[in-house]
Amino acid sequence: MLRVVQTALGLLLCTQLATSVCPDTVSRQDWGAAPPVSRQNLTSLPAPYVVIHHTYIPAFCNSTGACEVAMRGMQSYHQQTQHWSDIGYNFCVGGTGEVYEGRGWDVVGTHAPNYNDRSTGICFIGDFRTELPTPEMLAAAKSLIACGVERGSVSADYKLLGHSQVRSTECPGTALLNEIKTWPQWDALNSTST
Ligand SMILES: *[C@@H]1O[C@H](CO)[C@@H](O)[C@H](O)[C@H]1NC(C)=O
Ligand SMILES: *[C@@H]1O[C@H](CO)[C@@H](O)[C@H](O)[C@H]1NC(C)=O
Ligand SMILES: *[C@@H]1O[C@H](CO)[C@@H](O)[C@H](O)[C@H]1NC(C)=O
Ligand SMILES: [Zn+2]
Repeated sequence: MLRVVQTALGLLLCTQLATSVCPDTVSRQDWGAAPPVSRQNLTSLPAPYVVIHHTYIPAFCNSTGACEVAMRGMQSYHQQTQHWSDIGYNFCVGGTGEVYEGRGWDVVGTHAPNYNDRSTGICFIGDFRTELPTPEMLAAAKSLIACGVERGSVSADYKLLGHSQVRSTECPGTALLNEIKTWPQWDALNSTST
C-alpha cells in the first residue's frame, strides 16, 4: 500500500515537474496568417529585453474569432501598407487571455526601433490608456514571458520595457505602463521622469 502511494506521489511529482509554463498559443495557421516575406533571427539570443505594446487599433477583442480577425487585420496593414515582412509583434494577447503567435520566438520583429533585434515584442490587443487589460490577459503575458525564459528564448535577467520607454509614443498606454512597472523585471532604463 505504501509503495502504491509512493509510486503515485512520484508520478504526480514527475508530472508537475514536466509541466511547462508555456501558455497554449493560437498558431499562425489557426488565425490564418499569410507567410512572412522574410525572417531574421535575433542577434542577441536569448533576448535581453521584452517590450510591451498595446495595439490601440485594432480595438479590444473578446472572442477567439474576433481576435483572429484583429490579427489578420494587423498583419495585412503591416505587410501591405507598412511594407514590413510580417506582423510587427512576436506575440499578441487577446481579451480572453489567449496568446496569438506573431513572428514567434527568436525572430526579429518590427515594433521597437533599436530593440527589434534583441527583444521579444508582446502586444495587448486593445486601447489601454485608461483601462487595464483583463486579468486573463495580464496572466497570459506573464506566462508567455516565463515560457520564453524556460525555453531559452528570453534571458533569465531580461529587462521588461514599455514601448514608450524606447521611442516617443503613447504605447502601451498609461494604465498598462503603470501596471507593468509593478512587474518584477520592469526596468526604468535611464529615465528619471518615470
Ligand atoms: C535562425 O536560427 C535557426 C535555429 O537556430 C536556424 O536553423 C536558422 O538557420 C537561422 N536562420 C538564419 C537566417 O540565420
Ligand atoms: C468578455 O466576454 C464575456 C463573455 O461574453 C463577458 O462575460 C465579459 O464581461 C467580457 N469581458 C470584457 C472585458 O468585455
Ligand atoms: C543608458 O545609459 C547607458 C550608460 O550611460 C548607455 O550606454 C545607454 O545607451 C543608455 N540607454 C538609453 C536607452 O538611453
Ligand atoms: Zn507599441
